[in-house]
Amino acid sequence: MTALEAPFPSPADPDPIPLLLGWMREAKSTAPGWAAALATATCNGRPSVRMVLVQEVTPRGAIFYSDGGSRKGTELRLNPRAAICLHWPALGRQLRAEGRVRRLPATKVDSYFHSRPRVSQLAAAVSHQSRPAPRRPELEAWVDRLASELDGAEVPRPRRWTGYLLGFEVVEFWREGPGRLHHRVEYRRMGSRWQVCELQP
Ligand SMILES: Cc1cc2nc3c(=O)[nH]c(=O)nc-3n(C[C@H](O)[C@H](O)[C@H](O)COP(=O)(O)O)c2cc1C
Repeated sequence: MTALEAPFPSPADPDPIPLLLGWMREAKSTAPGWAAALATATCNGRPSVRMVLVQEVTPRGAIFYSDGGSRKGTELRLNPRAAICLHWPALGRQLRAEGRVRRLPATKVDSYFHSRPRVSQLAAAVSHQSRPAPRRPELEAWVDRLASELDGAEVPRPRRWTGYLLGFEVVEFWREGPGRLHHRVEYRRMGSRWQVCELQP
């Protein structure tokens, strides 16, 4: 299927969510995960951006996991508005979403944390993401020490390590077009309905 044959919203589509979920499913066939650029900002509007892995997409929003004490976690606590952007070059598609970010319930975070490989759990447990790091051997020694203290027992999830849901309030579908006349359709949630608008490329 070429980019131009792929499903794309027409301004008559009242709800972007079915197409968004379809795009996410199809993207999994071209890349192993959903890597997204996540933009956050301080209360003063100073932005920062980094990649995160979107682990799940539901009609309500996109779910990702991180350390709540990290730079992004601190920014989200003080200013819970964020944006993500995903790009699939093989499909000629970009997807953007903006909205309010909420923390996931502890039970859901626990279950995801314990589904991860043990080495990832140990790394998350010893690392305070975004703080200055010691030399690598010391960092590795922290992991070894915790592993030997636990002696095979379950790795406790650090309370700071958490999950987030970025609610879909604005969603934009972008599809590559010939001669750089790309296609863009933006949806803005207005209560229970969506306002749809085609944008110039
Ligand atoms: C492809 C990719 C996926 C990543 N996924 C995550 C993730 O899901 N969660 C996370 O906390 N960091 C992830 N990272 C690391 C972040 O990009 C970033 O370095 C880290 O979260 C610290 O960001 P901060 O200091 O802005 O909070 C990922 C990096 C890459 C390159």
